[in-house]
Amino acid sequence: MKVTIFGTGYVGLVQGAVLADVGHEVMCVDVDAAKVAALQAGRVPIHEPGLAPMVQSNQAAGRLQFSTDAAAGVAHGELIFLAVGTPPDEDGSADLQHVLAVARTIASHMTGPRTIVNKSTVPVGTADKVAATVGAALAERGVAIAFEVVSNPEFLKEGAAVADCKRPDRIIIGTASSTAEGQLRELYAPFNRNHDRMVVMDVRSAELTKYAANAMLATKISFINEIANLAERLGADIEAVRRGIGSDPRIGYSFIYPGAGYGGSCFPKDVKALIHTARSTGFAPELLQAVDRRNAAQRAVLGERIVGHYGGSLRGKTIAVWGLAFKPETDDMREAPSRNLLQALWAAGARVRAHDPAAMGEARRIFGERPDLTLCTSPAEALQGADSLAIVTEWKIYRVPDFGELARQLKDRMVFDGRNLYDPAIVARHGLGYSCIGRPPVP
Ligand code: UGA
Repeated sequence: MKVTIFGTGYVGLVQGAVLADVGHEVMCVDVDAAKVAALQAGRVPIHEPGLAPMVQSNQAAGRLQFSTDAAAGVAHGELIFLAVGTPPDEDGSADLQHVLAVARTIASHMTGPRTIVNKSTVPVGTADKVAATVGAALAERGVAIAFEVVSNPEFLKEGAAVADCKRPDRIIIGTASSTAEGQLRELYAPFNRNHDRMVVMDVRSAELTKYAANAMLATKISFINEIANLAERLGADIEAVRRGIGSDPRIGYSFIYPGAGYGGSCFPKDVKALIHTARSTGFAPELLQAVDRRNAAQRAVLGERIVGHYGGSLRGKTIAVWGLAFKPETDDMREAPSRNLLQALWAAGARVRAHDPAAMGEARRIFGERPDLTLCTSPAEALQGADSLAIVTEWKIYRVPDFGELARQLKDRMVFDGRNLYDPAIVARHGLGYSCIGRPPVP
């Protein structure tokens, strides 16, 4: 099928590549000419396992093209995906200006029937707004052309985006149109072979499903973080509690890892947007507000702990930081807990020596050159001259460190672990102090 995708961010680019890979003819359109030029040259701007070779091979096969030409895009695809950003407004609501701008663009170039499929995470009611915008723009042109607006939210995870997109748990389709449903069944048939993963519903329910999924996962994380705080105060070990509750299939093991708080471009933004949506209906979303507040507090925990350990000031101290990305396998630092940590360390007067396997370029872009930040090319280099170590992201290379070397390098022999990577007994054997989340500290 011929598909056009507006927006070459995470969602648009991955979906485009994966659809092309099963044989569809995909055109990705973006207003960012530099990004399009880079993609045309086979350069993928994001760090995502498996994405670059998939983009390059499908481009070479002529099934995947990149363009800034919106008119060509509208002419190309019978299905037109909206995968543009919905950044949060100041009040936490999702800003729809890009989505509605693309809707107007599509309407201004349409010459035949089109199915507009929304993949961006947008508040409930947006599909209706897109339909109204397209309808008004067509009326202004004085033409009557049939179109449908479908909600088809995306559930991919950064770092596993290609795999998630190729093997979706479910494909949510929000539409009342059997024509549109038929088109999407055909489009997704290669991903829907073994058992029917397609869940068809009304548009508003599909839009809410996306927010409900992310809010549920964020709730699990804030819940376990709350219990971790409690465990610390009660002398219990959250890792034992986590395994204990996870063994109940009704609870499950996933998304109950305590840590330095959730980050990234989705959970913080989507929970806030859902709170805003709820309030706009006059409903007070007590639970969601608590989830959001717990996370804000949790992102401060690691910094508070380090500053507290040193009696309130880090002047003259150098802290090694392992991990800057908001999670492993990505270079994304949006809303990353590491940013809260670095700000807290700097505010207390510390110097930071940081390492991340993928996010060093991002860190340089965000923080620029500053005398209290040294970006190091290896975990070992970050330790040189450091007083203690803080771990924020659970990259694989940090999982089995040379504890003897840590004990030799760290002047204060102290490890602050925001991800509970190590067995406290092993750390203690090497003469290191160990402070982690929700577990009794090793002195
Ligand atoms: C999340 C969802 O998992 C995807 O299903 C969804 O499609 C996506 O948002 C989206 O809306 O686009 P993502 O933000 O890429 O995906 O990352 P996650 O793997 O969900 O992690 C989010 C944050 O939660 C990370 O900071 C991670 O460290 C934290 N986390 C996760 C925990 O602190 N504990 C856990 O047990 C799990």
